[in-house]
Amino acid sequence: MKKFLIFAFIHLLMNTKALKNKVSQIIASEKSTPEKLQIICDFLKKEILYYDWVGFYFKNGAKNELKLGAYAGEETAHTIIPFGKGICGQVALSNKNFVVQDVQDQDNYISCGWKIKSEIVIPIFVNDQNIGQIDIDSHTISPFTPEDEELLEFTCSQVATLL
Ligand code: SME
Repeated sequence: MKKFLIFAFIHLLMNTKALKNKVSQIIASEKSTPEKLQIICDFLKKEILYYDWVGFYFKNGAKNELKLGAYAGEETAHTIIPFGKGICGQVALSNKNFVVQDVQDQDNYISCGWKIKSEIVIPIFVNDQNIGQIDIDSHTISPFTPEDEELLEFTCSQVATLL
């Protein structure tokens, strides 16, 4: 397991630039916005070995809740999340990245199953408004590094240009 993780970290470290380039290519492609979001989810889940679920949540109209958009990974029951609830709902209010290296340390956490050990949520801003987020779940404890935040912040800033 340790060897796998070290490999995965080095892989991301070396590849952040290439991954960003690929995200930019997807954004610039001729596809529709929903298709681009789906391709980004599938791409990140496939490329980064410890990304086991990748999804986008967006503010649901005028309601103070998040609605699930595109995702890759197992189906989730949590298609609507009220602001303030869980890691995602907290990010909707805090406007800050939330890196959870071990979900067991969090009281305000919505479980998506026993396999999930860690989670990272990065907000998406359009005109300085927090309009959604990217959410990653991992089956590995403590997998996230500053490179993940860099890649996901970049991805969110690119997605913001579509919205
Ligand atoms: N764990 C999240 C719920 C969404 S799932 O990860 C898909 C949370 O605590 O907000």
